[in-house]
Amino acid sequence: MSIRFLGTGCYLPPKVVTNDDLAKLVDTSDEWITQRVGVKERRVSVNETTADMATKAALAALEKSGLEACDIDLIIVGTITSDTLCPSVAATVQRNIGSQGIAFDISSACSGFMFSLETAVAYIERGVAKNALVIGAERLSKILDYTDRSTCVIFGDGAGAAVVTKGENYLSSTMYTSGNDEVLYIPDNVGLSPFYEGEEQKRCVHMDGQETFKFAVNRITQDIKTAAEKANIALGDIDHVVLHQANIRILEFASKRLKIPFDRFFINIDKCANTSAASVPIALAGLDASGKLKRGDIVALSAFGGGLSSAACIIKW
Ligand code: COA
Repeated sequence: MSIRFLGTGCYLPPKVVTNDDLAKLVDTSDEWITQRVGVKERRVSVNETTADMATKAALAALEKSGLEACDIDLIIVGTITSDTLCPSVAATVQRNIGSQGIAFDISSACSGFMFSLETAVAYIERGVAKNALVIGAERLSKILDYTDRSTCVIFGDGAGAAVVTKGENYLSSTMYTSGNDEVLYIPDNVGLSPFYEGEEQKRCVHMDGQETFKFAVNRITQDIKTAAEKANIALGDIDHVVLHQANIRILEFASKRLKIPFDRFFINIDKCANTSAASVPIALAGLDASGKLKRGDIVALSAFGGGLSSAACIIKW
């Protein structure tokens, strides 16, 4: 027993920020960002919280699933940009949609949706939950330093969601963590304690781009191979690859290393940029809505990010 997907959905805030807009804030250009990253524009929230976006993606996925909010008994949100440390984004979504399911967040940066999906599978297999809403939602714009050109051009805001239930379509998965707070990290406030002597650091994304790039290419290749082997699927039989949309060059490297034609890779980085935990579910919802995804197709999902962490799974749609 595993799970099957009943519906997907996503939400992007309406404000579009182009590369030219960012070139007014930092020393960059549309040409550099397009060539080195593959992003042309990103969406940025002006007044919506992470939970607002997560709720809209959840409602879109619910509508496609044919289920009602009262049928959902588990809500998991992958996020690193919760609006409040407590309650969780998932608890706020639960209230907003009118569900009574158990709800909690998972913090695993850009792998957050994949880790959440795997957790939902475990809950459903144990019989703790029947129907789950799995969401990735981020308002990364609140943790970006818009004076740092090496990070602010890469990321965007948004949310993606999937409704899953008992089924046989999640063929295999793999997860990876390698504790590291140097390559990619986001410090939190040190707090108001009069006793604590730690130093306050800027509360924004700190990233060694080249190390992250190498980690990404190695993990995607390894994780998709591992998941495919576990599922007894040849790499050539994968119909669609839905990768974390971090850098178009990372996707191209992955295609070459895995020898899977690039036209099987879903791409929306040009419009959405890197939305961290929301990236894979937004891309999956985009592929689902495109009409290219047919029942029985083999789909590989794969993400990587802070932690350092990564994950992949193979789904028979
Ligand atoms: N505009 C113009 N120039 C920029 C720039 C920008 N937005 N950002 C960096 N540069 C400059 C650098 O300052 C450097 O200049 P220098 O040679 O004068 O020192 C030059 O471009 C090359 O920098 P480098 O860091 O080597 O570029 P890169 O080709 O590695 O691209 C990243 C940088 C961040 C785009 C790339 O490393 C990357 O995408 N890494 C992975 C990041 C990722 O996936 N993060 C998400 C993880 S979930």
